[in-house]
Amino acid sequence: MVRKAITEIKVKNLEEMSVIKKNLEEIAKKVDEFILKNLSKKVLNLLNSSQHYIIAGGKRLRPFFILKSYSLLAENNEKIIPVAAAVEILHTFSLIHDDIMDQDLFRRNVPTVHTKWNEALAILAGDFLLSQAFIFVDHAIIHQDIKYRIMLELGRVSSKLCEGQALDIVFEERVNVSIKDYMEMVALKTAALFETSAFIGGLCANASVSQIESLKEFGNKFGISFQIIDDILGLIGEEKIFGKPIGSDLREGKKTYLLLYALEHLKHPKKSNLISILNKKEKTSEDINKGIELIKDSGAIESAKKIVKNLLDEAISKLEVFPDSEAKKELQILANFSIQRTF
Ligand code: IPE
Ligand code: IPE
Ligand code: MG
Ligand code: MG
Repeated sequence: MVRKAITEIKVKNLEEMSVIKKNLEEIAKKVDEFILKNLSKKVLNLLNSSQHYIIAGGKRLRPFFILKSYSLLAENNEKIIPVAAAVEILHTFSLIHDDIMDQDLFRRNVPTVHTKWNEALAILAGDFLLSQAFIFVDHAIIHQDIKYRIMLELGRVSSKLCEGQALDIVFEERVNVSIKDYMEMVALKTAALFETSAFIGGLCANASVSQIESLKEFGNKFGISFQIIDDILGLIGEEKIFGKPIGSDLREGKKTYLLLYALEHLKHPKKSNLISILNKKEKTSEDINKGIELIKDSGAIESAKKIVKNLLDEAISKLEVFPDSEAKKELQILANFSIQRTF
């Protein structure tokens, strides 16, 4: 009896998830079409390097956030596809520059822009996508005042992103980084863009001040949990499915939640073993594997999953103020399932 009930839940879950997957694919199709059509095409090398990640894949979660937040309150989200495209290319800018900073060789299962072309072109491709994002917003069929507010938000969020990325780098060299510091860094480098996406969607649908506040909190909580899951996958994920290198955070000395937890909870001699791996300038793959084992040993993954679960529950609860709708259900399902994601 119990077994049957569990099977039924699993089937229902799978069905729900396949709806979201289909939704993401449809969004990707529309957003990508807009991006590929509207990017300036004067310089071929710049165009090709800028389009590289778009063509390679990606989940299109930020466009999903914008369009579904809009659909919580209004009809016809087609008219804000250019805004969703703007946020996606802003995200792409951050990925291209992030891969230079993190010295990663592949993303979305293709070579990173700076390895396929070179660093100079990758810097330009990022700058180019960021500037084009502002121009994309102007294509949306919305009031001028709202366009102005969106552009302001894009300026604000890219500044936050840079601040978060700067902290991420500063923390590599710092020994006394706390969990609180980590949360602040992640709120800036990752959650801010989810927060902005939900906010902008609501803005375009004339959300009230308190509804906007709920959307922002939803995006913020989801975004922090999203980065913690990314850290987990970056440590114990399946490289081919994740599409990004495993163990790279450890190689770079990134102060992820997992590493901070391990440093705090491992006992001697495991703790000093982990520290001596971190202190090595050139880490072998054996060092990285040993480091991964030590972090797993500390219970960091279990602790991270608990935090993720709580954040996602809080995120989902922020949507309660909205009337029931397909979009609300879809945002809730996405948040619910993100803890299980593998890519
Ligand atoms: C990657 O974001 C960067 C992080 C904030 C962890 P996504 O996991 O959304 O990347 P894509 O767009 O699907 O490739
Ligand atoms: C995520 O950085 C945030 C941004 C890209 C701005 P990470 O370095 O943690 O993300 P991945 O794992 O490379 O995508
Ligand atoms: Mg990175
Ligand atoms: Mg990074």
